[in-house]
Amino acid sequence: MVGDESQGNTNSKHIDVLMELAKHGLHEEVRIPTSRLAGKIGLSQQSASRIMKDMENRGLVSRKVFADGQVVKIESRGLELLKERYSLLNSIFSKKKLAISGALVSGVGEGRYYIGLKGYRKQFKDKLNFLPYSGTLNIKVDKRTGSQINALPEFIMIDGFSTKKRSFGGLRLAKAKIEHGNRQILAAVIKPFRTVHGDDILEIIAPYFLREKLKIKDGDKVRIVV
Ligand code: CDP
Repeated sequence: MVGDESQGNTNSKHIDVLMELAKHGLHEEVRIPTSRLAGKIGLSQQSASRIMKDMENRGLVSRKVFADGQVVKIESRGLELLKERYSLLNSIFSKKKLAISGALVSGVGEGRYYIGLKGYRKQFKDKLNFLPYSGTLNIKVDKRTGSQINALPEFIMIDGFSTKKRSFGGLRLAKAKIEHGNRQILAAVIKPFRTVHGDDILEIIAPYFLREKLKIKDGDKVRIVV
């Protein structure tokens, strides 16, 4: 029923009241007249006092009413509700995407060799859920923007290994999407610990030969979303 806040689940006005009280302290007894609370959250005094009663019944707040006013305190269920909101927002904000644009360039043809090595391939399959095409697609990006990749919290580690002849270094992977026009492919940015490239080159691995799949050639603009 529209306008009847006492029915059903907790609603956004409950959160508004809790937020207002929380500004004074999560565990404080706050001396605040209903009229002021009503003004803060954009309600008539009548609606506000109905909501306060409702919140009290739900164990979200407790109130002590005196002749000269009231004190209100957030109770444990109110705290839980606030914490839920906090975690939700926190997880939304912390998953902020990083989008980097750049142009396709050719490298020196070494990617094919490294990505084809057995010692890496098994780990790629296990950790990315795909076997990459043998090669890396090199994207030339602005150096400062490219360096932001290094600060990502969710790198996947690929261990180095040795053969009889030599050792191969470990690398870090970040799952990413590569986009061109309206096509997009799930891929990964790879950051080897030993590399000739600076932060202005992003190396991409993907389950497909991307030049063909995305119909791109040297100089074409692509977007990497991590
Ligand atoms: O180092 P370079 O760019 O010469 O080549 P590579 O890493 O040996 O990869 C061989 C070719 O495949 C290059 O032209 C890459 O741009 C391309 N490639 C691709 O289209 N899709 C991939 N998933 C990986 C590489």
